[in-house]
Amino acid sequence: MIHSKKIIRTVETQTLLRVEDLALEFRTRSGTVQALDQVSFSLAMGETVGLVGESGSGKSVLALAILGILDRAAEVTKGAIALQGIDLLKIPRAELRQKRGKEMAMIFQNPRVALNPIRQVGKQLEDVLAVHQRGPKQGRRDRALALLSQVRIPDPERRYHAYPYELSGGMCQRVMIALALAANPKVLIADEPTTGLDVTTQAAVMGLIRDLGQQGEMGTILITHDLDLAAQYCDRLLVMHAGHIVEAAPTAQILRQPCHPYTTKLIAATPDPHKTLGELLPIAGHLPDLRGDLPPCRFRSRCDRPLPECDRPPLIRQTITPGHTVACHHPLTPEVQP
Ligand SMILES: Nc1ncnc2c1ncn2[C@@H]1O[C@H](COP(=O)(O)OP(=O)(O)OP(=O)(O)O)[C@@H](O)[C@H]1O
Ligand code: SF4
Ligand SMILES: [Mg+2]
Repeated sequence: MIHSKKIIRTVETQTLLRVEDLALEFRTRSGTVQALDQVSFSLAMGETVGLVGESGSGKSVLALAILGILDRAAEVTKGAIALQGIDLLKIPRAELRQKRGKEMAMIFQNPRVALNPIRQVGKQLEDVLAVHQRGPKQGRRDRALALLSQVRIPDPERRYHAYPYELSGGMCQRVMIALALAANPKVLIADEPTTGLDVTTQAAVMGLIRDLGQQGEMGTILITHDLDLAAQYCDRLLVMHAGHIVEAAPTAQILRQPCHPYTTKLIAATPDPHKTLGELLPIAGHLPDLRGDLPPCRFRSRCDRPLPECDRPPLIRQTITPGHTVACHHPLTPEVQP
């Protein structure tokens, strides 16, 4: 049983990011991959939203689509991605590049790969600051040191001169977070930021991300396989399955009362909160092949309670309680939950 240990706090309701009815395809030699469909959600200032789902469900594609850094094979066929009211899909490329670098930032798993192995970490920070901040070099050095302190790197003066190979995995991830924060982003996307780190370091890195999100005027999207981690650090959860967001709700609500058959199975399949969802996956069936014809509900072949209307479009999205939505014709409501 997974419990949300999150302390409930008042979340600013100012919307930073709104994704509306997004559909995205990849054109590949073996066919068109319908990677995202009917994806809608919003992110508010000061909020941390968790994006959870098994491997291949579309979490990273959604993050990369928001940042506009997908390869040429990707095409958004429908929808909007609005950052503070401006649709990023409609603005000129140069403006998008600027917004992306300045207002949105992403941290990935495996920071060692992302860092330049032959440049001191302080200099790497200065390089990023030089793009965003005019002014004297000394100012950038001071800001780089301040960022290293902000991400709680002990002895920043000394660490400024370190090369990535001289730092632990946790320290490298802190440097990545400092690089992401260099431009004071509005939206921070963390894609599996603690994979490969030991439990103590994982907690420290996640605590840092949470604190930074709460201090700054920023919203955070945490992508993770680990439902327990999401439960601890996220205000709301979005559950993805085969390119659809099948359920969205405040964290405590979704854990207490999951309504989509997939969410229910996902939670039931996590007996040990310290194991990750990616490791477990004992849910019957597989994600459908995203090429070719797909049924309105992409969970149809794995669902054990379908109705005839489940095969007829459109896929219905129902509101269970305000802020709790489920894309299902026949959701498990409190009256019918086993
Ligand atoms: N460049 C690409 N070309 C074709 N298909 C792609 C491409 N990138 C991703 N996909 C497909 O999009 C779907 C979603 O992939 P994505 O990487 O977003 O999954 P994920 O939820 O992040 O999985 P994981 O948890 O393993 O990181 C998958 O079916 C994947 O094969
Ligand atoms: S829409 Fe129908 S088939 Fe899909 S999850 Fe709901 S009940 Fe199952
Ligand atoms: Mg991914």
